[in-house]
Amino acid sequence: MKAFVAGATGETGRRIVQELIARNIPVRALVRDIAKAREILSPEAELVVGDVLQPESLTAALGDSTVVLCATGAKPSFDPTGPYKIDFEGTKNLVDAAKAKGIEHFVFVSSLCVSQLFHPLNLFWLILLWKKQAEEYIQKSGLTYTIVRPGGLKNEDNPNPIVMQGADTLLDGSIPRQKVAQVCVESLFESTARNKVVEIISKPEATSKSFGELFANVAG
Ligand SMILES: NC(=O)c1ccc[n+]([C@@H]2O[C@H](COP(=O)([O-])OP(=O)(O)OC[C@H]3O[C@@H](n4cnc5c(N)ncnc54)[C@H](OP(=O)(O)O)[C@@H]3O)[C@@H](O)[C@H]2O)c1
Repeated sequence: MKAFVAGATGETGRRIVQELIARNIPVRALVRDIAKAREILSPEAELVVGDVLQPESLTAALGDSTVVLCATGAKPSFDPTGPYKIDFEGTKNLVDAAKAKGIEHFVFVSSLCVSQLFHPLNLFWLILLWKKQAEEYIQKSGLTYTIVRPGGLKNEDNPNPIVMQGADTLLDGSIPRQKVAQVCVESLFESTARNKVVEIISKPEATSKSFGELFANVAG
């Protein structure tokens, strides 16, 4: 297995890279700024420069990767096209390149509440709507996928167990980015994670379960 991580210098992407390296999985990290990436990422990660908005850069960037993990995301800005471009068009470009390469598994970091048009987060240029469009494009692509919808992301890890449920069942809650990264990487190894949308938060009162149990409990 060789893993391609898009959004590798992001707060979640860098943790996905760490988790993969900790499991001895070779990583190709898609980065836009190589100097920034060298400061953030382990020297074991192979850095490839590219941009999800430049589809022609992606085929070469994917190289000999066999799986893709996508943790890109538009940053809040005054550009009303940001989420449309990064979260939808960029993901679509990556899906097309992954399909052309015969990628075995595509893991996508999405968000809770993507099905709620009137959610306040859509005030950020319809970000949830564009993420949902990206999800649907992945689901129709024919690629094997796992769509991971986390609650509010936290940089600090905590010992709280993960709660994992099916699409459109969790309305709020938060989760450390480290746990999101673990779920993304574990999904590559759990057959019951394939072709599923999973919503995740963490809660102190939740019962601790193995990743196998968590994925198996979500209907496909
Ligand atoms: N914040 C929350 O509470 C929350 C909750 C649920 C879901 N989410 C979603 O979870 C995901 C991860 O969030 P995060 O806060 O960890 O992300 P983040 O730190 O904002 O990182 C986003 C990454 O996307 C990359 N990126 C942006 N445009 C790109 C482009 N054109 N080509 C290639 N890469 C590009 C950025 O690259 P650079 O480093 O070069 O800028 C960065 O590495 C996002 O999709 C976010 O919407 C967030």
